[in-house]
Amino acid sequence: MKQEKIITVKDLKVSFDERQILKGVSFSINKGEIAVILGESGSGKSTILKHMLGLFPIAPGTISIFGQDLADLNEEDEMQFYLKLGVFYQNGALLNSLTVGENIALPLEQHTNLPDDLIEGLVRTKLKLVNLEEAYYLFPSQLSGGMLKRAALARAIIMDPPLLFCDEPGAGLDPVSLASLDELILRLRDQLGMTVLMVTHEVTSILRIADKVVFVDNGIIAYEGALKDAQNSQIPALSAFFRVGTGGKH
Ligand SMILES: Nc1ncnc2c1ncn2[C@@H]1O[C@H](COP(=O)(O)OP(=O)(O)O)[C@@H](O)[C@H]1O
Ligand SMILES: [Mg+2]
Repeated sequence: MKQEKIITVKDLKVSFDERQILKGVSFSINKGEIAVILGESGSGKSTILKHMLGLFPIAPGTISIFGQDLADLNEEDEMQFYLKLGVFYQNGALLNSLTVGENIALPLEQHTNLPDDLIEGLVRTKLKLVNLEEAYYLFPSQLSGGMLKRAALARAIIMDPPLLFCDEPGAGLDPVSLASLDELILRLRDQLGMTVLMVTHEVTSILRIADKVVFVDNGIIAYEGALKDAQNSQIPALSAFFRVGTGGKH
């Protein structure tokens, strides 16, 4: 079966002031896979994601998503295009003054003309998907950390994006909540056919969910390939991640 590339990044170069953070980053992601971007803190992982989301001015190199070169996006198409990208941030904070249901409904209210009862139905469906049906009328302050993450995930996917970006979604979660978040990410891939590009250094998560690993080191992609090959990699900086994460070091 031929695999369809949903993201292609070629020779992306990004500098902040005098410092070149990305020195020519190239990789691609296939449709329907969960890909993890791995790399030391400060290596430029979030910078890569932010460029894909159009949050920075176009940088040298090419980023193509769904076959669309971001540099060629015109203003008219931009909004529709970025609606196809779900984003689940590290501190995916919900608005405290709104209920969970209202928070998740926001994108639908902003970008569609759907009637209220239909919006409520869609929100409840997504809450069910993340095992949080009971939270519809609750306020964010009434949720645990794990529940908050799941609510933020429901919001990230309320527009049914074919592609979901996650930046350290598991940060600060206890192991049980992290495992249940991973279950949900797998469900998005398996039940909704979503493609997921995630930055994380939670090795337990990576081992559970990743189809593919993209390793950023010194401004380039030092490794791109299947999880099992990444684990057995001869690249010291990469194999170190897995050793540390599984407690095999020292
Ligand atoms: N908007 C910005 N302006 C200046 N420097 C930045 C900006 N964003 C990130 N950086 C710097 O770029 C480097 C990479 O950052 P980042 O992509 O956030 O790393 P990571 O997500 O891998 O931890 C860091 O040194 C960071 O300080
Ligand atoms: Mg980051």
